[in-house]
Amino acid sequence: MQIGSFELWPAARCLRQHGKPIAITGRAFDVLAVLAARHPDMARKSELMTAVWPGLVVEENNLQVQISLLRKILGREAIATVPGFGYCLNLAVTTCGDATGACRTAAGGGLHGRAADLAELSELVREHPLVTLSGGSGIGKSALARHLPEPPSATLARVDLADCTDTTGLLRALAGALDARGTGQPDRAALLRHLGRRPGLLVLDNADRVARLLVPVVEELLAHGAVHVLVTTQVRLHLRQEQVYRLTPLAVPPPGTSLAEALQYGALDLLAARARGHDHRFALTVPVLADAIELCRQLDGLPLALELAAARIPALGMAGLLQRMDERLTVLATGHEGVPARQRSLYDAIAWSYALLAPDEQALWCETARLQTPFSLEDLIAVGGARDIGRTLDLLGTLVERGLLRFDTGPVPCYTLEASHRQFARGILKTVVGA
Ligand SMILES: Nc1ncnc2c1ncn2[C@@H]1O[C@H](COP(=O)(O)OP(=O)(O)OP(=O)(O)O)[C@@H](O)[C@H]1O
Ligand SMILES: [Mg+2]
Repeated sequence: MQIGSFELWPAARCLRQHGKPIAITGRAFDVLAVLAARHPDMARKSELMTAVWPGLVVEENNLQVQISLLRKILGREAIATVPGFGYCLNLAVTTCGDATGACRTAAGGGLHGRAADLAELSELVREHPLVTLSGGSGIGKSALARHLPEPPSATLARVDLADCTDTTGLLRALAGALDARGTGQPDRAALLRHLGRRPGLLVLDNADRVARLLVPVVEELLAHGAVHVLVTTQVRLHLRQEQVYRLTPLAVPPPGTSLAEALQYGALDLLAARARGHDHRFALTVPVLADAIELCRQLDGLPLALELAAARIPALGMAGLLQRMDERLTVLATGHEGVPARQRSLYDAIAWSYALLAPDEQALWCETARLQTPFSLEDLIAVGGARDIGRTLDLLGTLVERGLLRFDTGPVPCYTLEASHRQFARGILKTVVGA
């Protein structure tokens, strides 16, 4: 949709002006989408509140906060108040496609808390021929890649590589992107030439297990000069042209945040939306807010963990879930077969990342579970965990890159082993080392 000089991309939940992404919160985006869909009519306050906070009891001033955010972005006169009733857009609106898409996305299985990531990533994939979207298991790499907008006048193809383990499987999957899936061995050179010459974006999703095999394939694709490639993977390709986008967890509100403000944070927004998906009566109210924020904090804003936790709320309640955080690796699980095996529990997700590590990376990571967290390099040296400093820094770098350790710069740079990872690593130490 064209709104004045702005472009609104509902499915991608992205707002642009003169081609540049504009930072906008998820709620403000949803309000704008409803206003645009109603244009030139007024959108009633009740309609806006239901569309933007589905199932939640929120006060009217939350809507006013979003309207004033929008006025800052679009201009003071861009939204007229119809006193006592609602709001109306004062900008020209041209619609291409489905004007209500954004509202439906917000209420359904849409992307939460990633507007800024989506805008930045869209920019990167336009500028760089090869972008790697990296981050730990279940952090939302594939979800973000799925919401990238279709490049204007270019093709977009997505290939899921999760089940590929060898080059033959990889080439078959790529042939599928061209609808050229044959029964025999694909002609590698012809296939890569064809794909490489297509202007557009090729998304190679879930490439963890074939990242190394992908290196020569991607080099060959890029040599043809047209296609841009986005790879989602925990394991980097380490190619010269590679631009890495490190996805971080969803933002978690600090304790004591008000309900209206807390819902601006992706982690809480996702937890509330998924909890409502499991029971339409669920409402995030002030009495459960503190527990909900604590749950998001304990789960480190990890989308997969939040989704699994939301599914347990009908059986345990928010407070009951919090009491079971020591057993989170198994409590946060689902029996649904439609979910990939690596995402059926928090344990499975961490085990997948662990299995991708080399033996010395695994050993060092488990050792860090013996230290108090956060810890510094000096702490690691003091317990004899860093005999070869150069190699240790390499290993730590990989663990940070894979989302298995967090590195914070500051007066004393330090590493944090998150609680879920700590539980897993301690379990390994117990079974393998007997420690
Ligand atoms: N921002 C988000 N909003 C809503 N749902 C999300 C978001 N991020 C992730 N999810 C959901 O969380 C789950 C895990 O996300 P996703 O599969 O994208 O993670 P991933 O990083 O690709 O994991 P893996 O490393 O296992 O491939 C999925 O069900 C996904 O739909
Ligand atoms: Mg994925």
